[in-house]
Order: sequence, then structure tokens, then C-alpha cells
Amino acid sequence: MAQRDPAECIIVPLDVPDAESARRLIDDIPAVKFWKVGLELFVSSGPEILTDLKDRDKRIFLDLKFHDIPNTMAGACRAAGRYGVDLVTVHAPAGMAALQAAQQAATEGAAAAGMAAPNLIAVTVLTSIDLRSLAFDLKIPLELSDYALQMALLSQQAGLAGSVCSPHEAELLRRCCGPDWLLVCPGVRPDWAQAGDQRRVMTPGAAIAAGANYLVIGRPITQADEPNAAFQRICDELTPT
Ligand code: C5P
Repeated sequence: MAQRDPAECIIVPLDVPDAESARRLIDDIPAVKFWKVGLELFVSSGPEILTDLKDRDKRIFLDLKFHDIPNTMAGACRAAGRYGVDLVTVHAPAGMAALQAAQQAATEGAAAAGMAAPNLIAVTVLTSIDLRSLAFDLKIPLELSDYALQMALLSQQAGLAGSVCSPHEAELLRRCCGPDWLLVCPGVRPDWAQAGDQRRVMTPGAAIAAGANYLVIGRPITQADEPNAAFQRICDELTPT
């Protein structure tokens, strides 16, 4: 399931508080081709960081996890589409109508700006939700993995392109959602890197073998003594010999 060039499947998060730090990180690790912009950076810097990334010819994972009524989801996704971002996250529990509206608007927004349509990626269940919280707080009477699978299947029916998942769920989702469903996996650690606060990690090679298309890998690269070399080392480990 890996893209051909391993460097195209590794997405590095811009987990920094402002645009200046983000630009520094991007310029410090020129080998990285695909960057993730999340809520903290986007709320602090606004869309200028997306333009900076496009100017540097980088691919963009806009991870803002939209969750709202269909009209509002559509508006946000139409605007995201205009920036020429590659991946956009939305919450699957927003429901069928909102997911369909989001997908259609993202495609329209991109087309109006002469950009390629982004792939909408569903967040099925946040990893911060455990079984207890699912049952007692959210009142959802399903096992976590069942709920995540149902949300992935709903997103697929709505015409989305893929879902975010733990590499430990990748095999099941690949089997149930088919070969074209994109799986974007955080929680990935080379065996030479520290797990940090990630609990259930998998190595890049094992995650790709389990069916992941994209790996979101942050601190093992950004906090390394030599970030470019760390990125290259992961690419080398993913290159078939
Ligand atoms: O540094 P690290 O590799 O742990 O970074 C992982 C990135 O993926 C972070 O930006 C984190 O917010 C994000 N993420 C995650 N687990 C999820 C969803 C997103 O680690 N379930």
C-alpha cells in the first residue's frame, strides 16, 4: 500500500505555536515533502502557512478535524479546497449529510481555484477516548474497534477518501474498506526512537506492511540531533532492498 517513493508517505506534523517557528522547521528539514498543519498552528498563524508551504512546493495535510452541520462543513471544506491542500480531516460522527456536503464542497472549491481536489480523511474515534468514556460519557454501546470500523464504513459510503487510524487498526480497516481506502497512521516509531507519550506504537515498516498509506511521524524526526538524517534513515528503512 506504500506510495512509490517512501518520502511521499511520511507526513511530518508542524507541531509548533506560530508561523515563524513553522517556517524555520520547514527550512531546517528540506528533505520532508509532506507537512501536517494542525489546530494550534492554524489558529495562531491563519492560512498564510498554507501559502508558505505551497510556495515551497510542499504537500499539505490540513488536520483541522471539522465537525459541524452540513452547511458549515461545506463552507470550511470549500475554503480548504481553494488552498490546494492534499488531505483534510473531518470527524465521521458529523454524519452522512455533513460528510457528503464536505466532500462535494472540497471538490468544488479546489476546481474553482484550479487546484486538484483534496482527499477528505475521516477521524473515526479520537485515541483519547477509551472504552469507558465511549460507553459512559458518550453512551455508545459498542467496542471501540467496532465503532471505529462503523465510522470508517459510514465515511466510505459518504464518498470520502480514507480514515485516520492507529497502525494497529490498519489491517482490519484495509480488509473491510478495500485497497483504495487511504489509511493515515500516527503512532509510528522507528525502533531507534523513543515512544514518548505514544502508547501503542508500530515501526514504519510494520505500519506500511499492515496497510498504511501515510505515516505521521513527528518527534523522531523533528527532535532528532540531525532531523534530515533521521528522515532519510526512515526512508531508507522503507525502501525495499
Ligand atoms: O511526535 P509524534 O510522532 O507523536 O506526532 C504525531 C502527530 O500525530 C501529532 O501531531 C499528533 O497530534 C497526531 N496524532 C496522534 N494520534 C492521533 C491523532 C493525531 O498522534 N490519534
